Amino acid sequence: MLAESLEYLAVKPYGRYLDCTAGLGGHTKAIAALLTQGGKLISCDRDAESLEIARQNAAEFADRIEFRQAMFSELDESDLDGLIADLGVSRFQLTGPERGFSFQAEGPLDMRMDQSHGTTAADLLNHSAEKAIADWLHQLGEERRARKIAGAIVRARPIRSTLHLAGVVERAVPRTGPMHPATRTFMALRMVVNREQEELDALLNAAPRMVKPGGRIVIISFMSLEDRKVKESFRELKRTGRGLILTKKPIVPSEQEVRMNPPSRSAKLRAVEIVNAQEHS
Ligand SMILES: C[S@@+](CC[C@H](N)C(=O)[O-])C[C@H]1O[C@@H](n2cnc3c(N)ncnc32)[C@H](O)[C@@H]1O
Repeated sequence: MLAESLEYLAVKPYGRYLDCTAGLGGHTKAIAALLTQGGKLISCDRDAESLEIARQNAAEFADRIEFRQAMFSELDESDLDGLIADLGVSRFQLTGPERGFSFQAEGPLDMRMDQSHGTTAADLLNHSAEKAIADWLHQLGEERRARKIAGAIVRARPIRSTLHLAGVVERAVPRTGPMHPATRTFMALRMVVNREQEELDALLNAAPRMVKPGGRIVIISFMSLEDRKVKESFRELKRTGRGLILTKKPIVPSEQEVRMNPPSRSAKLRAVEIVNAQEHS
């Protein structure tokens, strides 16, 4: 949803912007292209490898971009004209078997977006209580068969790799439709490993302080759990007189985009304009 993102961000040529999710640099490059040399874009990602790819892809506009490895909870900017976050994982992360996000290719069960520290998915699964695993699958993955899967995982420990886990899940809960039975398990685990809910909360909390009046916040999410958080946070900004909601309903990708890029089908974009930095309810 590149065109829609740019439309809602309404980039000013001399503005100061923050792309919280550089990924492969798609949004970063497009925003930077709309800036003059007087403008500035800070482009962040917690994944060092992704940041390097983004840097290469947007090299043409290097004079107006500052790349920085940072996660949402570390962001502390001010006076921004706009901020964008495109949540989740990138195609690069998802398809690289060595990163461990995919149930379709053999790899270490890692799933850390920032591989320099933190607990891997394998460590989590091999050392957590069955109840905790079931709760993650149920609450974050919205997996109906969470308890059955958690039981099978605990019995099969130690879980060694992506395909080992995918096989354990598939044997515990056979396929009922087109979706691979391990899809929700992998998604939930990824969210726990990267503390994605906590990170989104931190971003939603800090973003209105970082953006100045007249500036905009654009967030693209891929899961109903996340979209709900974004919606509620923007409503609160409206209620307290700090924000003007620009998307009464979430913006979804065009049919053409979904055809060309099927994973985009669940994307939802919401935007808010900050009208007042101070709360006055
Ligand atoms: C969907 S991709 C972004 C794609 C990007 N908009 C583009 O045009 O290429 C999401 C990116 O957000 C990063 N990310 C996810 N959660 C993050 C967090 N809490 N802090 C920083 N980066 C995060 C991931 O590492 C990933 O590279």
